[in-house]
Amino acid sequence: MMKGELENGVKRVLITKEEIDQKIKEAGKKISESYDGRPILLVSILKGAFVFMADLCRAIDVPCEIGFMCAKSYYSGTVSSGIVQITMDLEQDISKYHVIIVEDIVDTGRTLNDVVKLLKERNPISLKVVTLLDKPSRRIVDFNPDMSLFTIDDLFVIGYGLDCAEKYRNLPYIAEYNTENA
Ligand code: IMP
Ligand code: MG
Repeated sequence: MMKGELENGVKRVLITKEEIDQKIKEAGKKISESYDGRPILLVSILKGAFVFMADLCRAIDVPCEIGFMCAKSYYSGTVSSGIVQITMDLEQDISKYHVIIVEDIVDTGRTLNDVVKLLKERNPISLKVVTLLDKPSRRIVDFNPDMSLFTIDDLFVIGYGLDCAEKYRNLPYIAEYNTENA
């Protein structure tokens, strides 16, 4: 079978859409139960977490609001620049909410460490972090998410919102990136 152009960067599928759906269902149930009746604000870190946010918010069956922030640490390719930039901020006053940060992946931990620090200064009622993927072996700063759906090895992954130089975000699954076929 001929591979489509979108699959050129795929070395192998790591996590299927079905596996992602199942974990999100469980996470949504957990969040709905533990936050029932409280004002929840889901804060998605763009761009990588936009797909996860869209699926996770629909797996939550209690009222919640959503907000977006743009934090960048990878500018191109697979090497982290080590600088976190907030290029778009939230519009909400988060002091009225139980905030749940929704992130695609925790790698070195720098992005979330900085974002959490920043948001805590704004006095949310509570603040938790849920991430789709966690690469604990890559950690540079001491940061751990409150909930992580999948723990993965030190691989560069693409798909389901995650990119390599802005491509492959629209793959429906998570794949290991094929560095030989960029
Ligand atoms: P950290 O600050 O090193 O934890 O980096 C977090 C950000 O780097 C994530 O939000 C992603 O945007 C990006 N990133 C880290 N690992 C990967 C990967 O394997 N594929 C795609 N993006 C990644
Ligand atoms: Mg990201």
